[in-house]
Amino acid sequence: MAQCLVVDDDPQVRDALVRVVQSQGLTCVSASSADAALAMLAAQGEVAVLISDIRMPGGDGVQLLEEVRRRYPDTAVIMLSAVADVQIAVDCLKKGALDYIAKPMILGEVQARVAKALEKRELTLQNRYYQKHLEEEVRRQRARIQELFLEGAQTLAHALEAKDAYTRGHSQRVREYAVRTSVLLGYTGDFLDDLRLGAELHDIGKIGTQEALLNKPARLTPEELRHVMEHTTLGEKILAPLAHDRPVILHIARSHHERFDGDGFPDGLGGEDIPVEARIVAVVDAFDAMTTSRAYRESLVPSAAVAELRRCTNLQFDPAVVDAFCEAFPDPAKLPIHV
Ligand SMILES: [Fe+2]
Repeated sequence: MAQCLVVDDDPQVRDALVRVVQSQGLTCVSASSADAALAMLAAQGEVAVLISDIRMPGGDGVQLLEEVRRRYPDTAVIMLSAVADVQIAVDCLKKGALDYIAKPMILGEVQARVAKALEKRELTLQNRYYQKHLEEEVRRQRARIQELFLEGAQTLAHALEAKDAYTRGHSQRVREYAVRTSVLLGYTGDFLDDLRLGAELHDIGKIGTQEALLNKPARLTPEELRHVMEHTTLGEKILAPLAHDRPVILHIARSHHERFDGDGFPDGLGGEDIPVEARIVAVVDAFDAMTTSRAYRESLVPSAAVAELRRCTNLQFDPAVVDAFCEAFPDPAKLPIHV
């Protein structure tokens, strides 16, 4: 398609304009009416600059301007107006025309206006390009920062566990159990991705728990238990700044010690008020804790741990989640899995 389209019912004006524009090194075509111009644009695509007379038989230049603005918003439109039409030309500017040229035309002026229109259009296109790509770039950088932060949190979670022979590998096993249980429950996509990460980071708040209490070889006092359970809200706080738009991760950190009967930490939520991702992690977290030795007790064999999950169904655990876990891992003897 040509770069410029001239629309005027007067063949002399039309030809003169085409020649002037061509002398600027632009390709230029012409039409004798608004309808012909629209048909040409429809057949050949948009032009960079359209120069249109205001008064023409048939559809006038103002209607053509409106139509071109609607269909081809990037086309720079210059109106041609007789002195008597100056007010209409000004109205055209309000309707989105870039400029107007008064008749009789001075050819040098036409060239200058066309050059200016092209320059303005180029700037508009460039601005839009930068805006679009800048937004994309900012989005990409934000996602990368979030990713780096969460990777850092993962490293921290593993470092935290590595200090303690009893919990080594706990977060990765919880992640594997949680993901396979969730798949059985029908979850896919983003939920599963966030659950995977959330399960791995569920105990990140233990960074603020007194070490002596984490490894205490005896039952915790109520005050000590309250302190240990603060790892739920602290974990949520640690993760919130960069996972604020990923509630699944935050729900797991905060609510994985809630109980199905409403007697858990930190909010005493019950039943389905507990986010399902936290109900899932509650089950698999308890299973892994039971099947690994802790400072204060020996481990249970997997079948005994499964029996314990069943016994605590409806009290501590969501029965549907326990069922899904048992279905996902039908052979307890193969558990705990090694990751
Ligand atoms: Fe925990």
